[in-house]
Amino acid sequence: MNKILETMNLTSGYGDITIIDNISIYLESSEIVTIIGPNGAGKSTLLKAIFGMLPIFNGDVKFKENSIAGRNPSEIVSLGASFVPQTENIFPSLSITENLEIGGYQRSDNFQEQLDKMFQLFPELAKKSNEKASNLSGGQRQSLALARALMLDPVMLLLDEPSAALSPVMRQFIFEKIKEIAALGVGILMIEQNAEEALRQSDRGYVLAGGKIAFHDTAQAILANPEVGQLFLGIQKEK
Ligand SMILES: Nc1ncnc2c1ncn2[C@@H]1O[C@H](COP(=O)(O)OP(=O)(O)OP(=O)(O)O)[C@@H](O)[C@H]1O
Ligand SMILES: [Mg+2]
Repeated sequence: MNKILETMNLTSGYGDITIIDNISIYLESSEIVTIIGPNGAGKSTLLKAIFGMLPIFNGDVKFKENSIAGRNPSEIVSLGASFVPQTENIFPSLSITENLEIGGYQRSDNFQEQLDKMFQLFPELAKKSNEKASNLSGGQRQSLALARALMLDPVMLLLDEPSAALSPVMRQFIFEKIKEIAALGVGILMIEQNAEEALRQSDRGYVLAGGKIAFHDTAQAILANPEVGQLFLGIQKEK
């Protein structure tokens, strides 16, 4: 087992208000782990706390076995993690290539090789490399956000609702890409509202409710659990 991320009793929030309470989760290399839960449960807050965007009130966050508590996001990026927020994850007024250049700004070498790799992973971006990102479709924008996050070759990706606002076909496309990225050795921790679809592509899942982990299991087991299904996945009990 190769844990790249581990939170230990992580407690965080805004101002002096605790939002996430005593959260202990982990992520291994090449794993896809999905966090599901109702609106306002604290899912985005959890990712922000892991990524150094919020103060840690209690507990610890370990990345590659070292504590990153108190580190700021750019330090965490330089250690090999990347975060794709739900919105404002690309620069619409810049070209596709310029967006990727910004993603790779900390790279000292092999910039062109990494750019070529991203264009291989997302050929539709290569065709539009000089166009403004504002011209892209929703799925292509999300592709660009993923590619931008991969420009520094991270070992961990945090994704806040990567399939939000996409058509079913584009959701499937993005989930396939996420699987390809994980197969390259990247651990992926994502939040999803399209819970059932996301869990079908995942190894494990956590249910976050009211700022606490309510449930943790393999993705298959969560999908098969009638209580979780009814409460969080919209699966109706058979009469
Ligand atoms: N910047 C902020 N300042 C103060 N409170 C906030 C802030 N952002 C979120 N919150 C509060 O924290 C709680 C959890 O919000 P969070 O965005 O983490 O939930 P979520 O699970 O991601 O929900 P959603 O599914 O709607 O994205 C909510 O009660 C929200 O009002
Ligand atoms: Mg959220």
